[in-house]
Parts: sequence; C-alpha cells; structure tokens
Amino acid sequence: MEQEKLRFHNGVFKIMVIGDLHEPDVIESIDAQRRTSDAMRLLAAAADKLRPDLAVYAGDQGKSGDEARMRALIRRITAPLREREIPYAVVFGNHDRECELPLSRQLALYREEYDRLYTYDTPGLPGCGNCCVPVYDAAGEKPVWRLWQADSLGGYPDPAVSPYDWLQPEQVAWYRRTAAENKAADGRVLPALWFMHIPVREEYRLLRKAKWYELPWSVKGFAGRQGSRYIQKDRSIGYLGEDPAAAAVNSGIFEAWKETGDVKAAVFGHDHMNDFAGEVDGILLCQCKTAGFYPYTDGCSGGVRLITLYEDDPARVDTRMVRFKELGLKSESLGPVMRHFHDRQVINIRVASAVGGAVLGLAGLLIAGRRWRGRRSGKAK
Ligand SMILES: [Fe+2]
Repeated sequence: MEQEKLRFHNGVFKIMVIGDLHEPDVIESIDAQRRTSDAMRLLAAAADKLRPDLAVYAGDQGKSGDEARMRALIRRITAPLREREIPYAVVFGNHDRECELPLSRQLALYREEYDRLYTYDTPGLPGCGNCCVPVYDAAGEKPVWRLWQADSLGGYPDPAVSPYDWLQPEQVAWYRRTAAENKAADGRVLPALWFMHIPVREEYRLLRKAKWYELPWSVKGFAGRQGSRYIQKDRSIGYLGEDPAAAAVNSGIFEAWKETGDVKAAVFGHDHMNDFAGEVDGILLCQCKTAGFYPYTDGCSGGVRLITLYEDDPARVDTRMVRFKELGLKSESLGPVMRHFHDRQVINIRVASAVGGAVLGLAGLLIAGRRWRGRRSGKAK
C-alpha cells in the first residue's frame, strides 16, 4: 500500500524537531525512570501543543547492541508520536552507530514500529537514511517543498585530522544529482529543508571572537579553533552554550546548497546545549538542543524546535524552541539546582559577577584599611 503523502494543512506545515535523546536500552533505576519520564512527557506535551505534521529525530536517539532491547527503546521514544498519529523521520547521529546493531537494521525497526516513517535509505551512499522526501500541497496533487535527510556519519578514525567524519563526496554528488532531477520533474526549484545531525562548519560564521570582557559568556572553539573563544554575532538568535562541534574538514555541502538554491534552512542536533539560529548567505542554520535528560544538558531548558512552513510563501521559514518549562512541566529527574537554573552561561555570569564583586569588595576594604592606618600614623606624629 502506498504511503500517505505528507501535505500542508490550512496553509501550513509544522515540523517538530527532537534532538539527542540519548535514551538507554534498559531502564531499571528510579533515576533512569525519572529521566525517561521527563523526556517522554516533553515529547507528549509538545506534540499536544504544537500538533506537528511531522516530527524529525535529529540523531543520537539511543543505542543497544541487542535487537529486542533496541526495538523496545524505539517503541518507547516514538510512543508519544505514534499515539497521536504523528508521522516521523529519523536521521542518525554519531552515537547511534556505536553499537553492534547496524543502522540499516535500526531503520528497519523504526519502520516495523510505525508505517508512517518518512525516512528511506538511498542505496550506495555512505551512512544510512540519506533521502529526499516531498511535501505536497493541501490537495496532495503536487510537491511544494522537499525535506532532505542526510547521515553526517560518526567519529573520524584519526582525531588529529578531525574528531568527526564529514559528509562524503558521494553524498554531496547525490544531493546535486537528485536536486537537478527534482528541478527537471517539478519544472522549477522547490524550497527545501535539510536535516542532519552534525552541524556544518559555516555555523561559525554566526559567531565572532570574544573580547576579554565577554569571556564569561563565550565558548571555546572546536576542531582547529581551540585557541579562541567565541560569542554570537547579533544576527543569530537563541542560545550558544558550547562550541559548535563540526568536523574539521569542510564537506562542501553548504556551497552546494547555495549553488542549487533550494535549501532555505538546515537543522542540526549534536551540540546538546546550543539552540541558536541565524542566516548565513541566505540559508537559516538552526541548532536544536537536546530534548533528553540523560546527556549533558542545561537543566530544564531542553525542548523541541518548531519549524513552520507556509504554502503561499515559499521563502518563509519560521522557527523557535519550545522548552520543557514553557510547556508547564516540572522535572522529576533534575536536582534542586538545575531544576531552577537552566542556563549554564547565566551561572557563569553569576559566578563571574560574584567573584568580581568579592575582589572589588576586598580591594575596597584594603584601601579603606590603608587610609585609616595612614590617618592614625599621621595623628601620632
Ligand atoms: Fe548527542
């Protein structure tokens, strides 16, 4: 039976992006149960509030070498969507491949669990789940948007070259070739989104080197940029909580997007704390921070990213984070500090302010003490 087409409803198409859940395959301890409960309540509440037309898992969903356990994991993390009949797509992250169960089998398990999985594997390409999925108009007659999904692969064998692998030339060539075929079939270039786990290096073009007084809210660079610290330029909105961990080698995909002209926005996971978004050369680069409660995180500021597309305005892409707290949820797994502090840089700034205040206070006391002693010795003469 042919799969139902993804299509616009009431002029919009809403996508809920779910980043880096890192769910374990076995949940036994009370702590694990609470963490999973927090994450699943987030997905359920976000799905109820946003009513997305599609959800996209942005990689690092969770792993297990045991097929039965992996099936249970997939069943668990997709339940909030399946129960609400929300279709989903899955891109794989670097950690998804760190188990004996191959990605192709993992993808098959996602499909066996739900017939509304909108990810396919294009044979002959590196990785798994490289594909391009059309979104149709409300009538379901013609495609009006396209959704690219790509496997950004895993760690690179020689970390001295790059900590992570990069999109391979075959994948970039496949994108160019398929985009040309789409253009020929559609009679024009349709707007598109790109989903991938590891961000492109061009994200650093949304940042600039920090000045000394900006260090408390800066992040260090990554892969060849370790010597410098960075903050956001004005044109990116959202939160920069850590160094964007792109591969050290540029795959050239960003240049290919520019030349082809279809990709309006690209969405990445991987960096659990980052949720900034900004335009580089007309392409919106969006980070989606973790929706999970297992990985390193920002306390309760985890969430999902909403992307809204408009049928009558192909150039428009609206996006924002929808956070755990905003959904009226209370964490069961976070301790009393992280339950309230949800932004590591705010903590940095407060600590820096407290230290700065203490230093100034001490200096003041020292100066006052010297003056007082000076006056006393003056009087004695
Ligand atoms: Fe991750």
